Amino acid sequence: MKILVYGAGIVGSLFAVRLHEAGHDVSLLARGERLASLRRHGVQLAEAGSPAVRRIPVPAIDRPAGGYDLVTVLVRTHQVDSVLASLAGLDGDVLFLHNWAAGAQPLGAVIGHERVLLGFPNAAGTMDRDVVRYRAANAVTRRVAMPIGEPDGRTTPRLKRIVKAFRAAGINAKATPQMDAWLRTHAAFTVPLGQTVQAAGGPAALADDKDAVRGMLHLMRQNLAALPTPPVPRGFDALRTLPEGLLVAVLRRFLRSPTAVYSGLSNTSPAERAELERLAEQLRAYARGR
Ligand SMILES: NC(=O)c1ccc[n+]([C@@H]2O[C@H](COP(=O)([O-])OP(=O)(O)OC[C@H]3O[C@@H](n4cnc5c(N)ncnc54)[C@H](OP(=O)(O)O)[C@@H]3O)[C@@H](O)[C@H]2O)c1
Repeated sequence: MKILVYGAGIVGSLFAVRLHEAGHDVSLLARGERLASLRRHGVQLAEAGSPAVRRIPVPAIDRPAGGYDLVTVLVRTHQVDSVLASLAGLDGDVLFLHNWAAGAQPLGAVIGHERVLLGFPNAAGTMDRDVVRYRAANAVTRRVAMPIGEPDGRTTPRLKRIVKAFRAAGINAKATPQMDAWLRTHAAFTVPLGQTVQAAGGPAALADDKDAVRGMLHLMRQNLAALPTPPVPRGFDALRTLPEGLLVAVLRRFLRSPTAVYSGLSNTSPAERAELERLAEQLRAYARGR
């Protein structure tokens, strides 16, 4: 497949490498110093905690050129608007793989509704200067599939094709029927999580502050209660139904784990904060508009 990976940050770089190494014709779209670095060194990848850095020469470009079988958008929530216009004139399906609680409508309004697919990346990592340090898979993360779906929930031939391409590249994708509800549920959980972690100064620091974790749980419960549908996946229901003391203990344990520490939760960049703010706005607008 001819694939454009739009956004050469942590997940975009990692996915571009996986798809390139699986034999696809991949271009990785970057800008500024990141583009210069990719052209000089290729994508530099290392497992979190490992000194070994691999350099993979994925072609880097600064603007989309021609049509693609698939464009995967891996930018932050607040950066999506700046990307849409450049995708409007291109051919090909576009899979948006990022935090997003505004639904498919505003995306399709700019690029064409028939081109939009939604998903969320299951990879995680941090950026260490120019090196992407990805979180090694463990028994838990290996079981978590990357959800991808059509906005109307159908399992179409193109969805099957895309899932197959990701799986063949070692990315555990799964066709998921209620992607919109999935993304809103995730946002309801991730906005309080991300913002409380930021305020505390990192996941481990938050784990030490039991009251702050309890406050975060209340915000998650409020957000989930404001959703019109039950959480998707249903596992998030546990945040509403299990006893508070148990959940606080589980959340504190998670915040100290390598799964949390080697993820975007350790990212204190302005982009992380801006993304969470935009996502919170999208949730508020959704609650107001219902
Ligand atoms: N990292 C994780 O552990 C993780 C895990 C799960 C989900 N996610 C989610 O996945 C999404 C992507 O995350 P990420 O960690 O890969 O983010 P990231 O490292 O910030 O990468 C985003 C990249 O897109 C680039 N970009 C933005 N607008 C652009 C434009 N108009 N033209 C060209 N490049 C542009 C950014 O460039 P600039 O730096 O120049 O802005 C940056 O390189 C986010 O929604 C994130 O929350 C991340």
